[in-house]
Amino acid sequence: MEKLKAVYPGSFDPVTLGHIDLISRSCGVFDEVIVAVADNPRKKALFTKDERVGFIQEATKQMSNVSIKVFETLLVKFASSVGAKVIIKGLRAVSDFDYELQMSFINRRLAGDLETMFMMPSEEYSFVSSTIIKEIAALNGDISSMVPKPVEEALFTRLASLNDGA
Ligand code: PNS
Repeated sequence: MEKLKAVYPGSFDPVTLGHIDLISRSCGVFDEVIVAVADNPRKKALFTKDERVGFIQEATKQMSNVSIKVFETLLVKFASSVGAKVIIKGLRAVSDFDYELQMSFINRRLAGDLETMFMMPSEEYSFVSSTIIKEIAALNGDISSMVPKPVEEALFTRLASLNDGA
């Protein structure tokens, strides 16, 4: 039987435990989950694409049906190139919904045979986002319950080096 593949796209700058929770849930539903790290030169990332991929690799190494790939095309083109039929998006709260609904309709207009499926992370991560993590870390707050350990360490190191250079 054909394998049911899903793509889970994002910037992952950096990956959070909310993302990892969703990847893990997706692994239980799909035969193969491809985490698609967007490389968008117009969006200034704190971590390089290789660093972002490395963090996800480390955090998902126990999950046998996960792979991680970088993409710089339209998401629908990438999904088709890897043979995925589904795009997974995380919904944390109603505030995510408007934007995600718009994206799902745009992606459907671009590729009608691709379905977007929304998944909810565990409620303990319902407020966690990469943006909030970076803000808390910049103000020296405790992010240990929100990101994998290597991300926590790298984030404080990166922010300190940026401050040194400032
Ligand atoms: O983690 P993010 O930054 O919310 O992820 C956004 C992402 C990467 C999923 C989105 O920007 C995306 O799909 N980019 C690929 C380009 C694309 O296909 N755009 C079409 C929709 S406008």
